[in-house]
Amino acid sequence: MNYTELIRQALSAREYSYSPYSHFRVGAALLCKDGSVWTGCNIENRAYGPTNCAERTAFFKAVSEGKREFAAIAIVGGEAELDWCYPCGVCRQVMAEFCDPDGFEIICARSEEEYKVYTLRELLPEMF
Ligand code: THU
Repeated sequence: MNYTELIRQALSAREYSYSPYSHFRVGAALLCKDGSVWTGCNIENRAYGPTNCAERTAFFKAVSEGKREFAAIAIVGGEAELDWCYPCGVCRQVMAEFCDPDGFEIICARSEEEYKVYTLRELLPEMF
């Protein structure tokens, strides 16, 4: 699967974002090594703390269905307009639990054409 297709799926997932407090809408599409894709959106809560990021929604959906081998994740986010959206520290740590630091690709996209690709190690050096 190419980056553009994965970004497209992240954009579709963003449509389901439940973000009435921050109005920051995020979508993610997680590609497994077997080719399956698991999408997620951010899900906020009036108590704030229980809020779940789009990336973790995608990871937890996949892991809870037996997936453990991950190749890449595309992330899109912003309020009305898309902006650069990078995974938070907690999501980076969740990625560290399951992903190869040098092989797993994190695709941060502002559109289907404009994106940056990082390895997990670049975004979480000296990880626990
Ligand atoms: N958020 C994500 O879903 N992923 C990120 O990479 C950054 C932040 C969410 C959490 C919260 O619902 C909103 O964006 C504002 O922080």
